[in-house]
Amino acid sequence: MNTEEIREDYPILETGVIYLDNTASTLTPLQVTKAVTEYYHSYRANIHRGIYRISQKASEEYDQSRETVASLINARPQEIIFNRNTTEGINQVALALELQKGDKVLTTAIEHHSNLLPWLSQKTKGVKVEYITPDSEGRLNPQDFREKISEKTRLVAVTHISNVLGNINPVEEIGEICREKNILYLIDGAQAVPHIPVDVKKIKCDFYAFSGHKMLAPTGIGALYIKEDQLQKLEPPYKGGGVVSEVTLEDYTLTSYPTSWEAGTPNISGAIGFSEAVDYLRKIGYNRIQEHEKKLTKQLLKGLGEMGNIRVYGAHDARDRACIVTFRLEDMDSNDMAGILDAREQICVRSGSHCAMPLFKNILKEKEGIRASAYIYNTGEEIEKLLTVLRDYS
Ligand SMILES: Cc1ncc(COP(=O)(O)O)c(C=O)c1O
Repeated sequence: MNTEEIREDYPILETGVIYLDNTASTLTPLQVTKAVTEYYHSYRANIHRGIYRISQKASEEYDQSRETVASLINARPQEIIFNRNTTEGINQVALALELQKGDKVLTTAIEHHSNLLPWLSQKTKGVKVEYITPDSEGRLNPQDFREKISEKTRLVAVTHISNVLGNINPVEEIGEICREKNILYLIDGAQAVPHIPVDVKKIKCDFYAFSGHKMLAPTGIGALYIKEDQLQKLEPPYKGGGVVSEVTLEDYTLTSYPTSWEAGTPNISGAIGFSEAVDYLRKIGYNRIQEHEKKLTKQLLKGLGEMGNIRVYGAHDARDRACIVTFRLEDMDSNDMAGILDAREQICVRSGSHCAMPLFKNILKEKEGIRASAYIYNTGEEIEKLLTVLRDYS
């Protein structure tokens, strides 16, 4: 992988910024902004409505984008719903499932709030949320799921890669157990699709949610995979223009999926940009992405491990994780440290509890931490600059 060549696709890097907050959102390459601009400049029209040529062209590009995004995770195009982001995808599932009093959702103590609040919010209906606790390095044991699933469990909801620990979770093994016990299975893939190859058929999940902006696409576009047999059963939660084949003053007939799940005008340019980002990542190849990230993770973990006064969370072995590394300097406020990194070297890292308060509170026994997360355009020199500043405070 030629990182120097890749960096040329990101004009923002010319400002000297060292962008290590890729877990929050990634940068956008010229190829993606060009595809988005091309839509606005040459065929800016709504989709699936006009018979004029530029509307037809917009529809074709949008439909093609669905095919591209679907093929990335080995889904069929009709199994992909475009939406705003992972958060919306999980909420769509939570609404569509219509859980009842007494139903249980089994999730984990390491989830992002996006895979927690949609379930917790159903407490008022009498739905109970149960948790699997990880080991001291934040690893989940599939057997714990087997033991905890009961006849009341309607859904198992798990993150593929933790946004705090970087750990890659055993989603295939958990998927086997869910299939065996005939339990619905949802994966929060926000941090996985950008970093590792994902195959929803292999995972045997029913739902898989991910966000474009975490994998080089524009903000405001995401995708939700819903397995076809579930699409045939579930009622889409949002209603409005674009989702119906027939409407009277008394009733309506929904059109077929996936269109029936995308009420209103969708993010057309976002979908086109998403597809371009997928093509871009594929051209690089996940093998090279993973190899590059592992190198940087190793360097980062080694550098941090050599410092005193520092606590690093997650798996100690770089092989078990994506390049998402959260740590805490004892005696140093994380926000202050993040401010120093920015002021001294234009280093962007995230500080705080990373939308995972229960993980910090119950598992890590901390209030907050600093997270450095690298992607395809980051270099070893950038990691070294981060370590150099940190050494002065450790
Ligand atoms: C694991 C995980 N799940 C869900 C989300 C929510 O993503 P979005 O804000 O794109 O909905 C994030 C964002 O950081 C995440 O890391």
